[in-house]
Amino acid sequence: MSLLLTRGARKGPVLCFCAFIFLFVLYELGIICGNHKDQPTSLMVAKEKYVVGEQDKKAYTYDRNMPLIFIGGVPRSGTTLMRAMLDAHPDVRCGQETRIIPRILQMRSHWLKSHRESLRLAEAGITKEVIDSAIAAFCLEVIARHGEPAPRLCNKDPLTLKMGSYMLELFPNAKFLFMIRDGRATVHSIISRKVTITGFDLSSYRQCLSRWNLAISLMHEQCKEVGSKRCLMVPYEQLVLHPRDWMKKILNFLDVPWNESVLHHEEYINKPGGVPLSKVERSSDQVIKPINLEALTKWVGHIPEDVVRDMPDIAPMLSILGYDPYANPPVYGAPDSVVSDNTRKVLADNKKWAEIVRELDLQESIVITTDETNNNTYA
Ligand code: A3P
Repeated sequence: MSLLLTRGARKGPVLCFCAFIFLFVLYELGIICGNHKDQPTSLMVAKEKYVVGEQDKKAYTYDRNMPLIFIGGVPRSGTTLMRAMLDAHPDVRCGQETRIIPRILQMRSHWLKSHRESLRLAEAGITKEVIDSAIAAFCLEVIARHGEPAPRLCNKDPLTLKMGSYMLELFPNAKFLFMIRDGRATVHSIISRKVTITGFDLSSYRQCLSRWNLAISLMHEQCKEVGSKRCLMVPYEQLVLHPRDWMKKILNFLDVPWNESVLHHEEYINKPGGVPLSKVERSSDQVIKPINLEALTKWVGHIPEDVVRDMPDIAPMLSILGYDPYANPPVYGAPDSVVSDNTRKVLADNKKWAEIVRELDLQESIVITTDETNNNTYA
């Protein structure tokens, strides 16, 4: 008995010491005692924001988790038509190109590229989290407030798709519509309409096609990276040949209910809740027309013979996207009858369209938009 007591009496201090060490480790790990010395005791929290805050108006909240829609693609691939068709939907607002969203993204890539700048930012507490939250807030304010309030907001700055996976980091519930178009038609549009893009030499079909190939392959990679639940490829040719089927597919992908208005975007030009047009964007005078086939094959016969011959090597993305590089033009398919009717009407009445262009005061003027990854601009 006395032996047991002696052993117990010796164990006491050892057990106390072990318990002290155990509690000390828990304290150091921050598991006990909430106010750890290294943990900040306060947080900076932004106030909730609203698209419209006035009492008698409907208010839509906006935040980083909202299901934003981004429309991207190489310029001259039908991106304006796509956004106009969505703008015609009562629940969706895209609006004009913002131009400053790709610019802020470009600035961020410059900061990241410079080791010296990255170091300075880190020393100033400008962490990735701070930058991301600031850029997201900037983009969100611009998207939400440059146009009318709507339950579903959308952005069409075509080159933003080159940063698709980063945009998804900022906006985890966003979805992308990737407009693709036969590169020969896109390049013909760029050259014939003199749409200047930094890096594109407008005097050379060969050079422009290889630049198209580079740009579209970057976007294609991004679209694959974010996955098919987040990015839908929309071929311009199929959209104009079969607008009903494609808009059904697109609205379904976006979780937007069906509405016939998307098939008549031209009826909603510059109307409240409709399709706002910029006087200076290069596609405004085309998008005032109903969906039509005018632009489908007009590139045929304009590309120099040697370029046509080398097409599979100059633009391998054509085959990857399903366009036959040897066919001039490829068989895009037969149009729905409503599109053939639209095309007849559009071609029959050039005067009427010219008058509408004048009435709406649409001009062709130089617009510089920044390509965030290659420092490209297009006008
Ligand atoms: P062209 O320049 O070959 O005519 P983006 O808006 O991405 O720059 O694309 C411009 C292309 O979309 C133009 O091609 C234009 O004709 C086409 N487009 C615009 N509105 C259209 C419509 N209502 N129907 C069919 N295509 C249209």
